[in-house]
Amino acid sequence: MIEKTCYNVEKRHILHSSIFNQTLRDWQGLQSELTTKNFMYPIFLVEDENAVQPIDSMPGISRFGINKLKNHLWPLVQKGLQAILLFGVIDNLPKDDYATNADSLQNPVIKALPQLKTWFPNLTIACDVCLCPYSSHGHCGILFPDGTLNNEASLERISDVALSYAQAGAHIVAPSDMMDGRIAAIKQKLIHHKLANKVAVLSYTAKFASNFYGPFRDAAKSKPAFGDRRCYQLPPTSANLAIRAAERDVSEGADLLMVKPVMAYMDILKTIKDKFPHYPMFVYQVSGEYAMIYKASQAGTFDLEAGLMEILRSLRRAGADVIITYFTPLILDLLQPKHKL
Ligand code: PBG
Ligand code: ZN
Repeated sequence: MIEKTCYNVEKRHILHSSIFNQTLRDWQGLQSELTTKNFMYPIFLVEDENAVQPIDSMPGISRFGINKLKNHLWPLVQKGLQAILLFGVIDNLPKDDYATNADSLQNPVIKALPQLKTWFPNLTIACDVCLCPYSSHGHCGILFPDGTLNNEASLERISDVALSYAQAGAHIVAPSDMMDGRIAAIKQKLIHHKLANKVAVLSYTAKFASNFYGPFRDAAKSKPAFGDRRCYQLPPTSANLAIRAAERDVSEGADLLMVKPVMAYMDILKTIKDKFPHYPMFVYQVSGEYAMIYKASQAGTFDLEAGLMEILRSLRRAGADVIITYFTPLILDLLQPKHKL
């Protein structure tokens, strides 16, 4: 008697009927679709205009001088690259307590912005705003003589740096320092200088004091000379503070929100996206995550392209609109139409 066998599954519990061919499977996964618009590519820019410096801790990634960056970006733009995130790195220019070279005329980002805008008029250019690559102590703000953070002085300096990048042509300024009040300070200066309608503020909203930034600090030469960043970056144990940080940044006028790193913080990503669904949500797949995925695939743990796609789709599924990743060049290749006419 067929009714008494395992065939009497209730209609609403049949899942296989939704996934028996690729189109049906695609319909189930539209929320995790990937296009070239979903990516922003982080770039390390150095003073020496003709330099290409491979970064040991990040296999496959180099720091570029502006002339070499032009050649590196050109094919990527042809493949649909929409946006980059610039990090200046200095070697010869001096570092001081005030991070003078964060926005001096010799700063590689300040120098490159007008050139990049002429070469790639349709590319959206974001600039990371922070003092750590330029300060003698390697911290993200200005310090009191006793080594503790001077938040007020930090805001003054960080918002000046953001304004300088905006004046040099950045479309987006992205403060990564995690000082209290930085979004309001930056917005205020942009408004005062009549740039408020031309420059977006991408807030590193929920930036955690993470173990996954190690390779970046080599790449950006921004390791703190003493102490750590736990007095200003968020404790990895706390979802509550991350939500308060998002509420604060939204109330201060942030245009775009970010969670960083992402793989250990997917719950935060989903919570903030659900709470602020009207804001584009960025995630930063940071240097340690890049190295981890790359090295695991090199060791044969999984296929790089297939494993990476699974991870990227999971980020979209959890609520990411834009993924900042060092894998962007590879991803652009993977997203090219298979058959060109
Ligand atoms: C510094 C900054 C960091 C990253 C971006 N901006 C590291 C840090 O806080 O020490 C990390 C990016 C990465 O690891 O890829 N303000
Ligand atoms: Zn910093």
